[in-house]
Amino acid sequence: MSLPARAFDAVIVGGGGSGLRTALELARSDLKVAVLSKVFPTRSHTVAAQGGVAASLGNVEEDHWHWHMYDTVKGSDYLGDQDAIEFMCRKANEVVYELEHFGMPFDRMPNGKIYQRPFGGQTRNYGERMVPRSCAAADRTGHALLHTLYQANLKARTQFFVEWMALDLIRDRDGTVLGVTALEMETGEVMILQARATVFATGGAGRIFAASTNAFINTGDGLGMAARAGLPLEDMEFWQFHPTGVAGAGVLITEGVRGEGGYLLNKQGERFMERYAPNAKDLASRDVVSRAMATEIKEGRGAGKDGDYILLKLDHLGEELINKRLPGIREIARKFANVDPVKDPIPVVPTCHYQMGGIPTNCHGQVVAPKNGDAEAVVPGFYAVGECACVSVHGANRLGTNSLLDLLVFGKAAGERVIRDLREDGPMRGNLPKDAGEHTLARLARLDNQRNGERVAEVGADMRRIMQHHCGVFRFPDLLVEGVKKIREVAGRAGRTEIKDKSRTFNTARVEALELDNLVETAVASLVSAEARKESRGSHDRADCHRRDDANWLKHTLWYKEGDRLEYKPVHTKPLTVESFEPKARVY
Ligand code: FUM
Repeated sequence: MSLPARAFDAVIVGGGGSGLRTALELARSDLKVAVLSKVFPTRSHTVAAQGGVAASLGNVEEDHWHWHMYDTVKGSDYLGDQDAIEFMCRKANEVVYELEHFGMPFDRMPNGKIYQRPFGGQTRNYGERMVPRSCAAADRTGHALLHTLYQANLKARTQFFVEWMALDLIRDRDGTVLGVTALEMETGEVMILQARATVFATGGAGRIFAASTNAFINTGDGLGMAARAGLPLEDMEFWQFHPTGVAGAGVLITEGVRGEGGYLLNKQGERFMERYAPNAKDLASRDVVSRAMATEIKEGRGAGKDGDYILLKLDHLGEELINKRLPGIREIARKFANVDPVKDPIPVVPTCHYQMGGIPTNCHGQVVAPKNGDAEAVVPGFYAVGECACVSVHGANRLGTNSLLDLLVFGKAAGERVIRDLREDGPMRGNLPKDAGEHTLARLARLDNQRNGERVAEVGADMRRIMQHHCGVFRFPDLLVEGVKKIREVAGRAGRTEIKDKSRTFNTARVEALELDNLVETAVASLVSAEARKESRGSHDRADCHRRDDANWLKHTLWYKEGDRLEYKPVHTKPLTVESFEPKARVY
């Protein structure tokens, strides 16, 4: 059986911030573009980004893109590619002003300039002291950004395919990407969307963990599709735990709370961050703060009857400031923690928030993979942007508010590159291979025909428990080894799941089963990569070797599904135009 096909110049998979920014760039051309989204675009996970977007505008205090670059390289624990980091930090002001001109409702200072607040690891003059660099729309920056970009796309007449899920990447014999297979959820119809350029903007996969700030839609769909199509996933051992997820609920409490002057307390009422990061204190980078909190809890200084959370105090900021700058946080704290932060501290714990790794790309959003001795050969026709991509600007640890910046800078850059590539390439490259879609049909047929299989929910819950226990804030060698074994077993079980409901129309059971395939690829990649990295760097902290080992491990991991194997490639330590920042001890 062959699938029906529709042809486009470009297909963008994902309607969050990165997909919308890419689409907006493409809208300037006369290309025929389709944006696929599992949910209505303004319900994408970008909506949950709270505290701001980083740019060295210097509106509150003097700032400079080179200081931003230094902070980002240091924050990445020197694993970030310095050419890409220079590219991003240099472009930051331009993309933020563009966003302002698209209509973004940033908060303003009395002089009318965009309001900026400090976030972890943002410093002036190469670490001298903290600087306010995050441009904010109260504590709803991602929400405002997503709506701004969506409206700009409506104006530009971008074509959206809402409630469509991409299932598999289509490549020809030479490896050129020719589009995707996709499921229209409403009808259950599956078709091929053929494209000269396929752009993945599928977001993160934080749902592999039990405690996550991520939306239920963050199931690593792009990662799963890329891995099944034979492409590597880069640096998947590096998962960011945001210090302040609401205890028990996981909902994000923005770092902007600490940027505005809030701070963390243990059960003794001690501002413990002063011991772990004497200069930056509560605004040290996230990996440092999360580890400090986990240590306080582990050593018996956690608050609450089970001693399993930390207190985030902000009542001293006053009701007026909280209502003006942090209204969403007040609402979240009331709803999910049953406390009013104007009076009481919020119970928080480190919670999985962001993947630093992803599909390897260059600064133009082009997907790259080793081929014929070239460690970074461009995969023709394939681009990735946003959290699903690894450029790599975040290395082993991302600084807060660099994610919205990443999606603006590289969304725009990828759009520009697609236009250029398509102009150079001319019409559609070749025909679809005869077996295009077969893999997808086989996956769907298995789900239809499986009897006496396990429930998707059970397999997913086991995966999340394993990731949480074996691959969390602290990593223990024996737990990692055992975790690899267990997650491979889960991967086997995911191939034998059964759905009772075989209907076509809006069958969410089928969607969840297909998502599980992607989650599991991501989880295996993460545990296998983590077990192999025998050092501590950024968010990857091993109990058997707490030190960073630049001599042996200043390199990027590449995980391949085929053979469940690893390769490595060098870090780009040379920036585009300036001197390199040499690795040194990372203290805050
Ligand atoms: O804390 C926050 O508002 C999250 C921002 C980010 O992850 O960049």
